[in-house]
Amino acid sequence: MTEPRIRVVATDGDARRETFAEDVRRGLTSTPKTLPCVYFYDAKGSQLFEAICELPEYYLTRAEAEILAASASDIVSEFDGPVTLVELGSGSATKTRHVIEAILARQDTLHYRPIDISRAALDDSAGALSVDFPRLTIDGIEGEYAEGIRRLRGEAEKARLILFLGSNIGNMSPDEAVVFLSAIRANVSVRDAMLIGMDLRKDADVLERAYDDSQGITAAFNMNVLERVNRELRGDFELGAFRHAARYDDVEGRVEMHLVSREAQTARVAVLGLEVEFAEGETIHTENSYKYATDQIDDIARRAGWEVRRRWLDGRQQFSVNLFAPVTTPGR
Ligand code: AVI
Repeated sequence: MTEPRIRVVATDGDARRETFAEDVRRGLTSTPKTLPCVYFYDAKGSQLFEAICELPEYYLTRAEAEILAASASDIVSEFDGPVTLVELGSGSATKTRHVIEAILARQDTLHYRPIDISRAALDDSAGALSVDFPRLTIDGIEGEYAEGIRRLRGEAEKARLILFLGSNIGNMSPDEAVVFLSAIRANVSVRDAMLIGMDLRKDADVLERAYDDSQGITAAFNMNVLERVNRELRGDFELGAFRHAARYDDVEGRVEMHLVSREAQTARVAVLGLEVEFAEGETIHTENSYKYATDQIDDIARRAGWEVRRRWLDGRQQFSVNLFAPVTTPGR
């Protein structure tokens, strides 16, 4: 039997719903209040994120696409033989097309394994890619990064290029990034490599505009997490009683997104039997987006058992794409 060209499988949906409820309880009962940014990405959130990527203020996507368009052939030439392409957090996979094209210019067929928490994003991107690239087979996984890392385990027939684009790593703290990259390092061989898009430090006003755009799309994206709590956990958050805020902390090197309570209020989450009190001006911290200097990127790679073999920047030097190669240690 021949392999189907597209296959998308889901990981356990019930377990994911339970984790959402637990995370919401933990976040809304902590001080300061938080909600994990992974919950932005239901079907609506994923669409809003796609719209963010088109915003004039959100330079990240364009800068990274510019790098990949110019350098994909150079990037894949770092491999001697044929490769398999894995992508963590693939989303719409628009920028991935440059890499796919560059690989298919060197080998007859390509096996692409995207993983994403949005089923809709996976279905749409896999459908479109399979039309445009007949020599591509796609094995999509609907799940979180941890699932993607688990599936890297074991010997692979070909060298693997693992994409982690879009500054997705920026939503982890530097220490979390080291833990995450170490876990991947433990599951790959010395033939494999990772291509990681990381945003660079820059002026606070450029950064804050990128996360608080004039059309209010980022505000809607941020607010969507409360809509999910209302819908999926029977919450009664009054959306108009919160406003979106984005601020750059130059010491931490991160843009923080918050939902700020406009007034003293109480919200309930029925599924959790929870009442949450807010003082006027109190915030729910919903996302960190870390920005790096290149020496910090080198340091994170080293701490996680990798080295930055090559790095590419866009023309305005706003964004970096880094090829991480595993550092060989005896016995590996
Ligand atoms: C997905 N992630 C890398 C985006 C970022 O820039 O941190 C999410 C985002 N948040 C607000 N705008 C975009």
